[in-house]
Amino acid sequence: MKITNAKFITSAADRAGFLKTDKPVICVCGKSNVGKSSIINMLAGQKRLAKTSSEPGRTRLVNYFDFGAFVLADLPGYGFAKVSKTEKQRWARTLEDFFALTDIKHVFSLVDIRHDPTEDDRVMIGYLYARAIPFTLVVTKADKLPKTRRIPQAVKVAQSLALGTQSAIISSAEYGMGKEEIFAKIESILSDI
Ligand code: GTP
Ligand code: MG
Repeated sequence: MKITNAKFITSAADRAGFLKTDKPVICVCGKSNVGKSSIINMLAGQKRLAKTSSEPGRTRLVNYFDFGAFVLADLPGYGFAKVSKTEKQRWARTLEDFFALTDIKHVFSLVDIRHDPTEDDRVMIGYLYARAIPFTLVVTKADKLPKTRRIPQAVKVAQSLALGTQSAIISSAEYGMGKEEIFAKIESILSDI
């Protein structure tokens, strides 16, 4: 699968703005700063389609991108400590509404390869299980570890989320790593619809 002209569609701050589309919706979720927007750019083959930032909590809206055969949704990152309780509750509600109201075909759930999953990651994965939403674990920023440590660390992340290690994808937006695996997964999702 090669994407040549992915486009930004719209942003939504809450349920009133969620996109209504006939295309399959696939989304990218994970902790703030884990690399969600960067992965979307990697898949699009564009540097600045989704706004990235070294400052966590940059994406506060659901951003939708048209990838031709499907729509990719960039979700606001969770677990960002430096925001008010009210703001956190607002984000949590937006995410809950999103999962409840959108017919999601698949979720790529991102965890940084360097860190053990947090309680928020566990809650997120538990939530996907509870709603029976199919997902794939993507372990991000692999370039931050030496080659020999990548697989063992990805296995550790998967195991600590009680997930099988077979289907976890190791990625690096920096190196374009994991792109083929993610597209292969997307192709199999689309062919099953
Ligand atoms: P929020 O929107 O704030 O939740 O963050 P996000 O998950 O969208 O992360 P984003 O893609 O904005 O990336 C956060 C920071 O990590 C940026 O400084 C990126 O350049 C950096 N980053 C993302 N992916 C990678 C990667 O694969 N390797 C390296 N080295 N840095 C990365
Ligand atoms: Mg982002």
